Amino acid sequence: MPEKSKTYEKSPPKVFIRTFGCQMNDRDSEIIYGLFMERGWKIAESVEDADCILFNTCSVRHHAEQRAYSNMGMLAKLKRRRPGVILGFTGCTAEKDKDVVIKRLPHVDLVAGPGEIYNIPDYIEGLMKNRKKIVAAGKLERPDRENPSYRGNKTGTYVSISEGCDNFCSYCIVPYVRGRQRSRKKELIIEEVKSASEMGVKEITLLGQNVNSYGNDLKDGQNFMTLLEEVHAIDGIKRIRFVTSHPKDTKEALFQTMRDLPKVYKHLHLPLQSGSAKILKAMKRGYSPEHYLGLIDGLRKYIPDCNITTDIIVGFHGEEDSDFEETYSIMKKIGFDSAYIFKYSPRPPAESSRLADDVLPEVKKERHARLLELQKEISRRKRDSRRNEVLPMA
Ligand code: 5AD
Ligand code: SF4
Repeated sequence: MPEKSKTYEKSPPKVFIRTFGCQMNDRDSEIIYGLFMERGWKIAESVEDADCILFNTCSVRHHAEQRAYSNMGMLAKLKRRRPGVILGFTGCTAEKDKDVVIKRLPHVDLVAGPGEIYNIPDYIEGLMKNRKKIVAAGKLERPDRENPSYRGNKTGTYVSISEGCDNFCSYCIVPYVRGRQRSRKKELIIEEVKSASEMGVKEITLLGQNVNSYGNDLKDGQNFMTLLEEVHAIDGIKRIRFVTSHPKDTKEALFQTMRDLPKVYKHLHLPLQSGSAKILKAMKRGYSPEHYLGLIDGLRKYIPDCNITTDIIVGFHGEEDSDFEETYSIMKKIGFDSAYIFKYSPRPPAESSRLADDVLPEVKKERHARLLELQKEISRRKRDSRRNEVLPMA
């Protein structure tokens, strides 16, 4: 590995990071910025202004991945104009496509997966001296103590509580590119929240692919509720959010804890994915539509005005009209405050990528549009009636 360089006194180099995908990637980009800044680098305002450009990519859906590829493709021109600029492709797509990125994007100098973020400044500084391309991926573990030195937003910030996921939902690539669940030790999380609070941060969002299974792998008696209570006890922190909850691991105790801790936002993001028992089973989600409805009833008993949001996938393998109608009617029944609706795309090596992608694109498009329209109508009604009282849909 290249030697750690001295700080740059006179003309510091500048790094620009474009982030795709989820909050986990936003946090990773901040960590990378922090590591560069500790070495004397500055943040570039734009790609034009940068000595090093990194694309921190997302592979969860085909569309986001293609956007990263095509945007990086467009930087080939810049690289011809300024051959000294260093281009890096990092994050989940870099991990997944480690063997093909350089073939697809020959102007890229560095390919680095999420397990490599702490080495990125070393790699880049090495590349500044020696132009030999670097592909660093396949290592999913990373230090438990995250680098907290830089926070882009001083009002609210992210703190990761676990990495990876153990659930292997059949459509999902996350366990393959981020690895199995590793909960961070509670003491380190608390230390990080306190240090953010000392930097003036008032609002914390706790991040995990499945926050409700936090601690399962630690075997030290910690769980998400005890963690929330400890974060809540930190004086400088005024508001707490968390994402994402998994319906199979969300228990009534969470609703009680949310109700009893005033700093916790009354908001639950609870991805449903589908309203069809058959599809949920094929997705290996580990719950039924009835179980999900029971959770929503329980939540509304504890926190009647809780804001509830969800994720839905349309057009999963084998989704027939009747399955889709079940999703439509459960969404209508629940009345989410908002919903992220996605068209299914196979993500090798996730399990369902071995099954036929058998719902026609135009059918996916139509189902997607119908759910968007439904959600728009629900959200409009909720907004209109908030001044009076929430009206149930017919
Ligand atoms: N196709 C479409 N949507 C997907 N998601 C995850 N994997 C896929 C896929 N293969 C969606 C899920 C998840 C959100 C982050 O992305 O709804 O909750
Ligand atoms: Fe993917 Fe399922 Fe894990 Fe969420 S819970 S990250 S959808 S495998």
